Amino acid sequence: MKPGEIRALVRMRGFDADHDRRVVARSHSIGDLRREARRRLPQPVFGYADGGADEELTMRANRAALRRWLFRPWVLRDVSEPDLQVPVLGSGLAAPLGLAPTGFTRVFHPDGELAVARAAASRGLPYGLSTCGTHTIEELAGTGHPGLWFQLYVLRDRKLSDALVDRAAAAGYGVLEVTVDTPAGGRRTRDLRTGFTAPPMLTPRALLDIAVRPGYWTSMLRAPALRYASLAAPGLHTIADITAMFDPSLSWDDIEVLRARWPGKLLLKGPLGPADAVRAVSAGVDGIHLSNHGGRQLDRCVAAVDMVRPVREAIGEQAAIILDSGIRHGADVAVAIARGADMCMVGRGYLYGLAAAGQLGVEHAIDLLTGELRRTMQLLGVTTVAELRKHGDELVVPAAPGASREP
Ligand SMILES: Cc1cc2nc3c(=O)[nH]c(=O)nc-3n(C[C@H](O)[C@H](O)[C@H](O)COP(=O)(O)O)c2cc1C
Repeated sequence: MKPGEIRALVRMRGFDADHDRRVVARSHSIGDLRREARRRLPQPVFGYADGGADEELTMRANRAALRRWLFRPWVLRDVSEPDLQVPVLGSGLAAPLGLAPTGFTRVFHPDGELAVARAAASRGLPYGLSTCGTHTIEELAGTGHPGLWFQLYVLRDRKLSDALVDRAAAAGYGVLEVTVDTPAGGRRTRDLRTGFTAPPMLTPRALLDIAVRPGYWTSMLRAPALRYASLAAPGLHTIADITAMFDPSLSWDDIEVLRARWPGKLLLKGPLGPADAVRAVSAGVDGIHLSNHGGRQLDRCVAAVDMVRPVREAIGEQAAIILDSGIRHGADVAVAIARGADMCMVGRGYLYGLAAAGQLGVEHAIDLLTGELRRTMQLLGVTTVAELRKHGDELVVPAAPGASREP
């Protein structure tokens, strides 16, 4: 090559002093964000996000089930302008995606739920604040996100539980989702092994960890003390302590009472079978949030995506279907839509982004997922989410029996 040609190939990228921007620039998938989160977080904190119940069979089954579906694309359709927008529960979303409620979010990053809500708002997507959140209902509403959801664990202390519902309504939350798959806490073996507590304790091991992960510990120790902002639960907690506050006697009658109390849209989060979905619809819910809690509750549970079609066939178009559990790629969202879901939610996927790079990391996680969905739709030959849903059986087919697509 001539010197001029060599010179034309030289690219010297300047060093970006901003940590979060550097992390985002080198993360090209949710898997990359997960690796960054693992590097930044103390092991027990990473395990709290990353782990599942017991042998983590459900957690792995969710991923494997999503990957069993194969694409059979159309060609020669004008896909220059794919449109990801969808109406769900009366709101127009920029894409069929939302950010699922996750408890104790500030343990991953000092900005916690505020960063997640701001990221979701900037991308036109809904976000659900958990009952176990580390910011209050009102603080989150203060971000100005116009489409917040509130996730309710019905508490043994029904006065406190009802007060949360009323506060969410008063603060303008449009959707209440009642989680119904936690009559007992899942056995999170990783948390038991690592001794994860909320907040994390400054044990000798944690003190050693400060030397290894000064970034995490400095930001945490500078921030206000971590607490469950909505639960009257001061002190130190294991996950088991917190789940013991949830009411295991919850029944269908309670759902009808909540339906009467809550003025907005109502979802149940956690039913999986068609019979429960039909019952939920007759109790007046607006949508089924099909979920096995990302494999954090009942191990050996059916994969959530496998229940989309049976539930859709059972309830028809009477209620929305929102799928979570295992979504790590835009192609997963395409599969869920093709099977009959209206939208997907993602839990760990955005938490990895939050832990790795705060609000910028959550925005990046969203952009990765929506970018992947857009490209998948283009390569499939569809231009709208409605088209993908309508022709799902033609475009998305099961892998041949026995074909292995392990995660
Ligand atoms: C760290 C963490 C905390 C969670 N906390 C809650 C919670 O407080 N309430 C709830 O209904 N679901 C909670 N979930 C479950 C999520 O809402 C969602 O169902 C699950 O993460 C989806 O699976 P995925 O992580 O594979 O996307 C939590 C999940 C994680 C990873």
